[in-house]
Amino acid sequence: MKILILPDRDAAVASCVALIADALTDKPDAVLGLATGGTMEPVYAGLLDRTRAGQVSLDRMTSFNLDEYVGLSPEHPQSYHAFMQERLFAPLKLEPARTHLPRGDAPDPVAEAARYDAAITHAGGIDLQLLGIGRNGHIGFNEPSSSLASPTRVKTLTRATREANARFFGPDEAVPRFAITMGIATILRSRHAVLLATGAAKAEAVAAMAEGPLSARCPASALQMHPKVTVVLDTEAAAGLELRQYYETVHPQGQEVTLV
Ligand code: PGA
Repeated sequence: MKILILPDRDAAVASCVALIADALTDKPDAVLGLATGGTMEPVYAGLLDRTRAGQVSLDRMTSFNLDEYVGLSPEHPQSYHAFMQERLFAPLKLEPARTHLPRGDAPDPVAEAARYDAAITHAGGIDLQLLGIGRNGHIGFNEPSSSLASPTRVKTLTRATREANARFFGPDEAVPRFAITMGIATILRSRHAVLLATGAAKAEAVAAMAEGPLSARCPASALQMHPKVTVVLDTEAAAGLELRQYYETVHPQGQEVTLV
């Protein structure tokens, strides 16, 4: 794992945006794996800024989001379809055929999950997978106890996740109980995974992911088996790392260093 510790949230977000922009510069028709959640909001704002400044284009990329709530149609304001439309797809006027999320309102969610996994493979696999991390160590909606060999499938959300996400729903709205999520195996097949975590609430999960045992207790720990992962942190999210000094020596201020 390459662990980059940036001085603050804005710097961590900027570093993450730069990784995505560089991937698109190298390969304009890259397949991106996208994520939702509060952590990603400034990332998409940063990508919009860079696009408007003419520094990067998302016009030729294809995207697959990690997950969607079962039971929510794409038009539902709390669906992840709506999140992505509002924050990235509509402002950039991206071709709908290039942007994919699982259909939460599919009549057969189990079949929809299998179709989605196959569609990722058919598109050539994911070049860069963007990830957040839950306080309980989930990536996508792979909750603790998820098989580390799981494909895209339907998962039951934990109470902790439903409580954490209740802030996006109205006071009278229930957070859905199920989601379709890329599996851990799906995520591990990506050619490069970039995980962004900011804020003190993520420190424990980040430490378990990077330095804890490989365990379904912390599904993100499966990233230890990924050949190319970049973990971008602010100092608060990095606070629980025992080997922090080492990471900061290898990448001072979260910067790349040349070897020779
Ligand atoms: P958050 O969600 O960015 O809203 O904290 C991350 C996640 O649950 O994966």
